[in-house]
Amino acid sequence: MTSKPVHIAIFASGAGSNARRIIEYFKEDPGVEISLVVCNKPGAGVLQVASDHHIPAVLIERDRFFKGDGYLPDLEKHRVDLLVLAGFLWKVPEKIIQAYPGKIINIHPALLPAYGGKGMYGHYVHEAVLANREPLSGITIHYVDEHYDHGDTIFQATCRIEENDTVESLSQKIQQLEHAHYPEVIAGIIKKQKPR
Ligand code: GRF
Repeated sequence: MTSKPVHIAIFASGAGSNARRIIEYFKEDPGVEISLVVCNKPGAGVLQVASDHHIPAVLIERDRFFKGDGYLPDLEKHRVDLLVLAGFLWKVPEKIIQAYPGKIINIHPALLPAYGGKGMYGHYVHEAVLANREPLSGITIHYVDEHYDHGDTIFQATCRIEENDTVESLSQKIQQLEHAHYPEVIAGIIKKQKPR
């Protein structure tokens, strides 16, 4: 008897390249279903990604997310088991963290704890890394708690920074690491969390 699939909600605010990779990676996997895309930015590329793959999307509003029900009814309606943040720029409210303990993960485009926290996202991260002439950068996949970029680290991968690297070239290197590793790390978490 096949056990029910694990349902994933992807939270994103931007282009959705990670969301697309994750959707494509699990497309043929009967044990995993990307059930919902949650987005806070009208017109964000990730909404097109959801539409292209016939995945329901919910466009959330600040008040309801932070002061209302946190859209928990939507997550429950889609039987969400795991929340995957992929470029989601709002902090996850306590109400959601309490409802999904140990079930919310995020990817950050730097080697936390360095270069993390409020305001450290996208090109701001790469600018700071380059300005400090770091020899390495990379990605961090971590559990989400009530602070930005702060929960237990699950996985990190690094890339070398060369003299001639720019924000653009570094962002490309980081994105390649993200696309190569995020889906596999998610698959590993699901495997570990599946009841025997
Ligand atoms: C990625 O760099 C990710 O590390 C960060 O936000 C970006 C999302 O990019 N959290 P995309 O929207 O998946 O292309």
